[in-house]
Amino acid sequence: VTAARTGSASRSGVSRRSFLGGIGAVGAGAALASTGCSAGRAAADGIEHVVPFDGSHQAGIATPAQDRLAFAAFDVTTSDRDQLADMLTRWTASARAMTRGELVPGGMTDQLAAPADTGEAAGLPPSNLTVTIGFGPSLFDDRFGLASKRPKALAALPALPGDELDPAFVGGDLCIQACADDPQVAFHAVHNLARQGIGTVVHRWMQLGFGRTSSTTSAQATPRNLMGFKDGTRNISADDAALMDGHVWVGAGSDQPWLRGGSYLVARRIRMLLEIWDRNTLADQEATFGRAKLSGAPLTGHVERDVPDFASRGAGGTRVIPADAHIRLASPEANGGVRILRRGYSFTDGIETETGSLLGGLFFLAFMRDPQQFVTLQRRLGRVDALSEYIRHTGSALFACPPGTTATSSWRDHLFG
Ligand code: HEM
Repeated sequence: VTAARTGSASRSGVSRRSFLGGIGAVGAGAALASTGCSAGRAAADGIEHVVPFDGSHQAGIATPAQDRLAFAAFDVTTSDRDQLADMLTRWTASARAMTRGELVPGGMTDQLAAPADTGEAAGLPPSNLTVTIGFGPSLFDDRFGLASKRPKALAALPALPGDELDPAFVGGDLCIQACADDPQVAFHAVHNLARQGIGTVVHRWMQLGFGRTSSTTSAQATPRNLMGFKDGTRNISADDAALMDGHVWVGAGSDQPWLRGGSYLVARRIRMLLEIWDRNTLADQEATFGRAKLSGAPLTGHVERDVPDFASRGAGGTRVIPADAHIRLASPEANGGVRILRRGYSFTDGIETETGSLLGGLFFLAFMRDPQQFVTLQRRLGRVDALSEYIRHTGSALFACPPGTTATSSWRDHLFG
């Protein structure tokens, strides 16, 4: 999936590398590393890791999950439809350039103007950056004449069991999911789009994530979440086209042609009560998920990829994978075949000052062809899931992510084309 591009030459714009004065690929990485700046892993092997921006689907969904996330939800402040449409055109051009490792178009030479690119990624490699846009239900109200373009399924999520939502982390007219192997590259993408959007959008909320909590392709090793468990073992593998078509991509049956080939994104900010979790016995922790902590194997198996046997009973007839285990309740077997593509990240936001407890957890991101898939799962998990004792859902949002662009189209065209 990753297209390797060597050297610092770029197709059209100003490469961030050449901007530094022609330092070679390895040299730039080494120079930045030695000055303590974050140089993406890509620099070490001399290959610029570029994920193609254009394609039938947006990058950042089926493409391999990177290590870092900057996620931003925005509200539109203008009531001028053309201004919003123009911003979407400019955002597309900037996102396309940044994913190639180029400076935001507009240059950085005019001493009397604010630089078009804020600069903090100058010299850094592309780092597999993907920039994915989503449109929230509120964008389709009466402000921009978009009501007839709203897919029926794009409505604010209903109240769900487990909700303890903080309004500061709910909703948004638009979202940008920027993922990269370098946190500074991901942050830079959101920072620059927000800057370009001044006067048109304002930040509603933002979340940084470190450490992916899901593998999304069969080639990736399964990472661990902050509870110490392998996460993503039975995730949909994005290289399985049939599963992606069946569960993730919006199909031809959608009421809105512009969304076909896109996907719905559910974002849930889930706090983990780690101090309580950490005091739990190993047996209890494993029973909570239904998997062994170190190997990730289901309690009915030996190795991580063993298929869980939900029917298996041990001595005395008790279920080996408990009735309230997370993997039982979340499984397609327990939910009429419902599956989703999880693509979340661990996060920490420091500590809660009153108690001194860690504020952190899972920034759950999942893609699906219909938001009802998430609703079904969360209604089943709700308060019954053994895990629910240790987590709190504190943020929530739903977005429709349009399909991909071509080299000559933009995010504007989906809504205003
Ligand atoms: C902090 C909260 C959560 C944690 C720590 C967590 C962790 C895990 C872990 C360790 C697994 C087993 C490995 C795997 O197959 O990936 C798993 C599976 C799964 N989780 Fe979660 N999860 C959380 C919240 C959720 C939520 C909110 C949903 C959806 C509403 C969800 C849906 C799933 C699904 C669908 C599976 C795979 C089940 C299967 O295919 O058999 N999880 N989760």
